Amino acid sequence: MRALTFHGKHDLRCETVPDPKIEHPRDAIIKVTACAICGSDLHLFDGVIPDVHSGDVLGHETMGEVVEVGAENKALKVGDRVVVPFTISCGDCFFCRKGFFSGCERTNPDKAKAAKLWGNSPAGLFGYSHLLGGYAGGQAEYLRVPHADVGPIKVPSHLTDEQVLFLSDIFPTGYMAAEFCNIQPEDTIAIWGCGPVGQFAIKSAFMLGAARVIAIDTVPERLAMAAASGATTLDFKSEDIYDRIMQLTHGRGADACIDAVGTEPETTASFDSVIDRIKVATFMGTDRPHVLRQAIHCCRNFGTVSIVGVYGGFLDNVPMGSAINRGLTFRMAQTPVQHYMPKLLERVERGEIDPSFVITHRASLEEGPELYKTFRDKKEGCIKVVMKP
Ligand SMILES: NC(=O)c1ccc[n+]([C@@H]2O[C@H](COP(=O)([O-])OP(=O)(O)OC[C@H]3O[C@@H](n4cnc5c(N)ncnc54)[C@H](O)[C@@H]3O)[C@@H](O)[C@H]2O)c1
Ligand SMILES: [Zn+2]
Ligand SMILES: [Zn+2]
Repeated sequence: MRALTFHGKHDLRCETVPDPKIEHPRDAIIKVTACAICGSDLHLFDGVIPDVHSGDVLGHETMGEVVEVGAENKALKVGDRVVVPFTISCGDCFFCRKGFFSGCERTNPDKAKAAKLWGNSPAGLFGYSHLLGGYAGGQAEYLRVPHADVGPIKVPSHLTDEQVLFLSDIFPTGYMAAEFCNIQPEDTIAIWGCGPVGQFAIKSAFMLGAARVIAIDTVPERLAMAAASGATTLDFKSEDIYDRIMQLTHGRGADACIDAVGTEPETTASFDSVIDRIKVATFMGTDRPHVLRQAIHCCRNFGTVSIVGVYGGFLDNVPMGSAINRGLTFRMAQTPVQHYMPKLLERVERGEIDPSFVITHRASLEEGPELYKTFRDKKEGCIKVVMKP
């Protein structure tokens, strides 16, 4: 089959690899009808995530048609149309039974490595390094889905691929980011990053009843999309974000702040970002938490900081003094996607949201390597790429 494979930093290729096979009786194989490039894939592309091997197939936002099922899989049958969550979860361990699917303790065969870095291991993920299981990803013609009787959700035929594909990751992630904020009717929610995740966080914050959303980015098309969803937009290159948020909230700060940027913020906009960049480049640090610092500063006393932007290791100079003295609550996670899929599919079916609004580029797998660059560089108005193998 054809698939997008990793061959080192900034070197992705579309090449022929062996077809996946059923390896366990609960598996299923799906023929991919649509897959997307995620902001998290850019951390792989940019060489920020360790332990990605040459030839690894990338991709974790995938849907398609079931073409083969293992003997013990009673949940799926050939011909079912499914969306696959990016988290691989057994459905039966201590964490899965509590709904913390991304904390599954059985699906990461590399758990010792992850535990060394993080104290314990989260779930395995599709196409996301040998720290997180080394599973082949779904930017390919076919995908093996382990524990396929737990993860994939069947989708009704009247909804298009583009309307349901993002149930695999960015819609649940944006929704979870907003849900973490425990939104009350008067609330102002500030959201850093108007990438795909930020866009879904904006829509979700309004769905959950926020009075106002302040969205922060610098890319004109992304700010325009945020404004079209009803957000008040701020450009971090031309405005002082802290001053503007204080102005808009009568000096109090936002009720909750969402970090939908993570470890790769734009480098030049602030002094601390430049220092972080130098530290990471010289192996003196692992992450660049500029946005997290700013989100903490801009949050009101006893407000919530909700983190969905991904960080990898050890974050320097995070203002914990501000957080403890002002009573902030921190919420964060790799999304337990399976927990959110059914209720968000219902919202799509009821017409409360059409997730395809975020798509700007449609392409073939062969065009994938070029589109990673276009997406990373935010060229040609690119906000979200969907590939149809
Ligand atoms: N927690 C999860 O389960 C989960 C799931 C999906 C994605 N993510 C993470 O969410 C983050 C966003 O993903 P995405 O797909 O939207 O990616 P993206 O890279 O397209 O979006 C990031 C946006 O942040 C903006 N930005 C950069 N510096 C900024 C700053 N200083 N202030 C405000 N905005 C700034 C960029 O211009 C860009 O629009 C990534 O870190 C990704 O890994 C997490
Ligand atoms: Zn993702
Ligand atoms: Zn589990």
